[in-house]
Amino acid sequence: MVEPRVPLVPSADMSEASHTVLLTADEIASRVAGVAAEIRRDYPEDTALHLVAVLTGGCIFLADLARALDRPVTIDFVAVSSYGAGTRSTGNVRLRYDLRLPVENRDVLIVEDIIDTGATLAWLLEYLGRERPRSLRTVALLDKPSGRTVDAPVDYVGFTMPNRFVVGYGLDHDEQLRHLPYIAALDLPAVTASGEPEQETGQPH
Ligand code: PRP
Repeated sequence: MVEPRVPLVPSADMSEASHTVLLTADEIASRVAGVAAEIRRDYPEDTALHLVAVLTGGCIFLADLARALDRPVTIDFVAVSSYGAGTRSTGNVRLRYDLRLPVENRDVLIVEDIIDTGATLAWLLEYLGRERPRSLRTVALLDKPSGRTVDAPVDYVGFTMPNRFVVGYGLDHDEQLRHLPYIAALDLPAVTASGEPEQETGQPH
């Protein structure tokens, strides 16, 4: 079944939206290099890592991480949705775009931009785990532990974040602002697709 999409609000050009930079492009690049070094240390040099990035937000992190790893890797993508009528994760995760490559007997690393409730990652770990990879680990650029409602282990974390609504470097607000080279907190009151103010500052889905 095709999932409903969150509609873009007409004329909602967010490029001028007021936001506060939390992590600069340089800070992100430096930490991505650090995370890549941690991963390199943990896997034998001849390990062919299989990176599975979670669309859409994870694509920017994946591109930088894959190059920072400085080792041959294979790359695949998966997309899931975890929202219902609201804008926060319902925990009801559904597959939107499936893997192209088999993961059996591969050393798989799930690449996420952000972990909030943990529902998406927990679902993915179960989904990929069923396909019998040789190893299965997770890396997230951002982790918001205060949002966690589902236990989902994150093996490598770039930055631990406060419970703020963050955009940029792949993260969106209504599909916009993914292109920002830095990560910022949106200063405007968060607004749902229906135009209602959000109940909290949690990450939308
Ligand atoms: C974000 C993020 C994770 C998920 C994490 O994706 O990329 O996949 O939410 O949230 P959780 O820990 O509460 O499950 P999103 O559904 O916003 O899709 P997008 O990447 O296409 O924006």
